[in-house]
Amino acid sequence: MKRRDLLKIAVVLGGTAAVARQSTLCSAAAALDGGAKDELMALRDVAASRGLIFGAAIPKKNLFGDPLFSRIVSRQCGILVPELELKWEALRPAPDQFDFRGGDWLYEYTQTNHILFRGHTLVWEAALPTWFERTVNARNAKSILLDHISNVVRHYAGKMHSWDVVNEAFRIEDARSDGLKSTPWLQFIGPEYIEAAFHAAHEADPKATLFYNENWLEPETEVSEKKRRAVLAFVTSLKKKGVPIHGLGIQSHLFAEANVTGPNFQRFLQEVADLGLAIVISELDVRDKNLPANVELRDRLVAEQYYKYLSFVLRCKAVKAVLTWGLSDRYTWIARSQGRPDGLPVRPLLYDANLEPTAARWAVQRALEQAPAR
Ligand code: XIL
Repeated sequence: MKRRDLLKIAVVLGGTAAVARQSTLCSAAAALDGGAKDELMALRDVAASRGLIFGAAIPKKNLFGDPLFSRIVSRQCGILVPELELKWEALRPAPDQFDFRGGDWLYEYTQTNHILFRGHTLVWEAALPTWFERTVNARNAKSILLDHISNVVRHYAGKMHSWDVVNEAFRIEDARSDGLKSTPWLQFIGPEYIEAAFHAAHEADPKATLFYNENWLEPETEVSEKKRRAVLAFVTSLKKKGVPIHGLGIQSHLFAEANVTGPNFQRFLQEVADLGLAIVISELDVRDKNLPANVELRDRLVAEQYYKYLSFVLRCKAVKAVLTWGLSDRYTWIARSQGRPDGLPVRPLLYDANLEPTAARWAVQRALEQAPAR
């Protein structure tokens, strides 16, 4: 990237609510001019200077086949979560088989590069293998689930920073009084599948830090507020019962134009913190599908949302880590799931499809730099 382009970013960011740190950007420009991208302060180091952890979800195939991308990941990330490899679909080729090759490859990668490793996810109704539907029923679901959890957690015992034990268990639209989503796990086992999962994970690795991970907790909308209430009530009851749950993952797949810094979400963060739970921003990205086509404007609005959201959540000291879902637009799942109506390539992440840092990358750096120290 040319100095001219970086200064353009500096100007763009100068227009945000953020205080643009021109000096940082100029020295960044100088470093880039020399072609020495690695001289820049890595996001993992900026985060660490505030007692925080920064990282991303990445699948093996993107690291294995793309050395330049891998260099950015290993330089920027202090924590890595497998985007695909630890889901049932990948781990369980057959009811009696476990295939840990993908997960183990990624674990070795983190060890080589001094990166923490995070597990995602032991219980979800999506990404199930094809045999699931014809094999799992009300009689065997609980033993199949608990057997899966103990095998997988034992395999990685002592190696994980944390585990997403249960993922996305709530859906207000399903209209149950407890807010739970109507999944095969719920239908076959009942609501106690969640606490059973946490107990099984704890037994398999008593030192593991165990998270519940959820989507759509951020917007200041009625349905998200209902979801926050339902999740909070449920997690509170788990804590009262002594279920080993240690943290909440707030996914944070955001729309650029959404209000995700409202008073109800703020109260929720405080309530979760008051329960003694850690919080991880677990799957952050910013969707640009509803933004204008102009790339500079789009990048500015995406960067503004990153900055605004992170500055807001990082004020809550229970937030211990920030992970983006992917690191480059070259591989983002948003291209597959939330494409733009005009067909233009999406730009939701911190490095664009050419692996150049975007305005969002500097916005994240600044929000991390300005976060209160942990
Ligand atoms: C997504 C992956 O990024 C995609 O590549 C895959 O096709 C589907 O799953 N919430 C989650 C993640 O908890 O596991 C999902 O990951 C994105 C939404």
